Amino acid sequence: MCGIVGYVGDKESAPILVSGLKKLEYRGYDSAGVAVVGGNALNVVRATGKLKNLENRVSQEPPQGTLGIGHTRWATHGRPSDENAHPHTYKNVAVVHNGIIENHLALKEELRAKGHVFSSETDTEVFAHLISDELERGVDLPDAVRLAIKQVKGTYALAVVSSRDPNRIICTKDASPMVLGLGQGQNFVASDVPALLEHTRDFVYMEEGDLAIVTAQGVDIFNRQGNKVNRPTRRIDWTPMMAEKGGHKHFMHKEIWEQPRAIADTLRGRMLLSEGDIHFEGWNLSADKVRTITKVTILACGTSWHSGVAGKHMIESLARIPVEVELASEFRYRDPIVDPTHLAIAISQSGETADTLAAFKEAKARGAMSLAICNVMGSAMTREADISVLTNAGPEIGVASTKAFTTQLVTLYMLAVKLGRMRGTLTVKAAQEHLTHLTQIPKMIEDVLKCEPSVKRVAREFMAAQDFLFLGRGPMHPVALEGALKLKEISYIHAEGYAGGEMKHGPIALIDEKMPVVVIAPKQPSVAYEKIIGNIEEVRARGGKVIAIIDEDDHHVDGLADHVIRIPAACALLAPVVSTIPLQLLAYHVAEMRGNDVDQPRNLAKSVTVE
Ligand code: F6R
Repeated sequence: MCGIVGYVGDKESAPILVSGLKKLEYRGYDSAGVAVVGGNALNVVRATGKLKNLENRVSQEPPQGTLGIGHTRWATHGRPSDENAHPHTYKNVAVVHNGIIENHLALKEELRAKGHVFSSETDTEVFAHLISDELERGVDLPDAVRLAIKQVKGTYALAVVSSRDPNRIICTKDASPMVLGLGQGQNFVASDVPALLEHTRDFVYMEEGDLAIVTAQGVDIFNRQGNKVNRPTRRIDWTPMMAEKGGHKHFMHKEIWEQPRAIADTLRGRMLLSEGDIHFEGWNLSADKVRTITKVTILACGTSWHSGVAGKHMIESLARIPVEVELASEFRYRDPIVDPTHLAIAISQSGETADTLAAFKEAKARGAMSLAICNVMGSAMTREADISVLTNAGPEIGVASTKAFTTQLVTLYMLAVKLGRMRGTLTVKAAQEHLTHLTQIPKMIEDVLKCEPSVKRVAREFMAAQDFLFLGRGPMHPVALEGALKLKEISYIHAEGYAGGEMKHGPIALIDEKMPVVVIAPKQPSVAYEKIIGNIEEVRARGGKVIAIIDEDDHHVDGLADHVIRIPAACALLAPVVSTIPLQLLAYHVAEMRGNDVDQPRNLAKSVTVE
């Protein structure tokens, strides 16, 4: 998954493809490649690492031809390497793909039985094999693509070329974005508008299930039923910077709004609803081994540590294993007690955070089993771990972590279900209920994002505050910590997150009429609803301003709080995912109103690879 570019016209395609890929560099990637069709031959050039490496290879042996496709890859299946870089080819077919094929293992098995040999570890390569088989049966290229996607379960934006059909690019999409760029005597394909802005301002956005035949002369689009359709052409006047952010003012805002998609991608292909189980690729712990685990130690920093605190509630509740959540920077310098019955879990967006990595190595060296929950396949932590579970949030560019956090939460929930099933603490039926809750989360996030106008009003009222307090109990405690961290790191307002019960042990002294207090109070028995309402009353009694995050049907708090932000009711262990969203938006709007550099706050780096 990452960036796609395609070109067909009267110019040499390779330089156009590489330059389009460069425009998508901001999205992050680990390898890149192009496939060019010319003189009835298919020429593929790929390289791991920076685009410079691909450019060097292309300039050494320029692939000739006026039609081609290119890709920057962000690994999801298979580590970053030349072999796993796109385009993937089989015989005379080349494909580039964004998305995830859920049934790729079963399809590979079927194809192997027919004598196919695979040259990469990716899910994408399956497309090249399926399409090639159809071509060999005499089907033309568009129909071959149609028949191939019918066999695939998952999401895709796919561009296909073949030296047997050298004048057209076939592309199709479902759930992953794809646009067509229109030119004179030349046409383009891309996953994102910025790739093409130097060539055209006229774009057609493909819709779900569409298939397009793109030639130098024009584009023909067919819907899922195979009927020819007209999709409107839109003139895009965005600057390249605006286009990179998909029309959002900042990457952080774009990433907050991407969360329904990011979470759906994280769940995709992993939930076995009928079996009440979870499938994690590369999982190599037997049920016997899992039953030997006496303790889980979560190692992480910052936002990832907060997701670990929420994960403790999930794993203890569903799998009944004691969990300790350790700040990696502390753990690594202690003399921690670790033994081979412990499972060490590193949680990290980047997979490169120096403290987490060192703590993880320390736990491993002392005999612990190791599992990494990480957003970057091939990163140091995934290389270190016995098992890596990818969060599939896609590249996160804003320094303040948003979609990485919520995808970590749903991953931890899946892990808790898996461990619970393996240890026998969850029945199939109970697990099915948990998985059903999970499937509802992307839609709930879509709904909760609608609270943005009310959050903006709160942000305007409190943008000049000097301090903020965030309170939550049980699984909402890490949400309070995360809300405070988000606000302080981008708005530079001092903020503290506290467990509600701790307020009377100190922070209550700070409360006066200038102090906004955000109380995360979904109506759940496990978050001691009555107790958190008690906290609201204590704040009110001292003149503090209460902003309450509550369930949409809860009217009990209406008269008590100065502002209420309503969210859809999720089960207690998943409520952190939903209730974090308004806090991300609050931090974003306060920072934006204060004129701060939201995406690159002062003194902070995206990946902390030094101590
Ligand atoms: C806060 C934030 C940081 C990171 C921390 C760990 O918004 O992004 O607190 O969570 O630096 O980074 P990773 O998850 O890459 O290990």
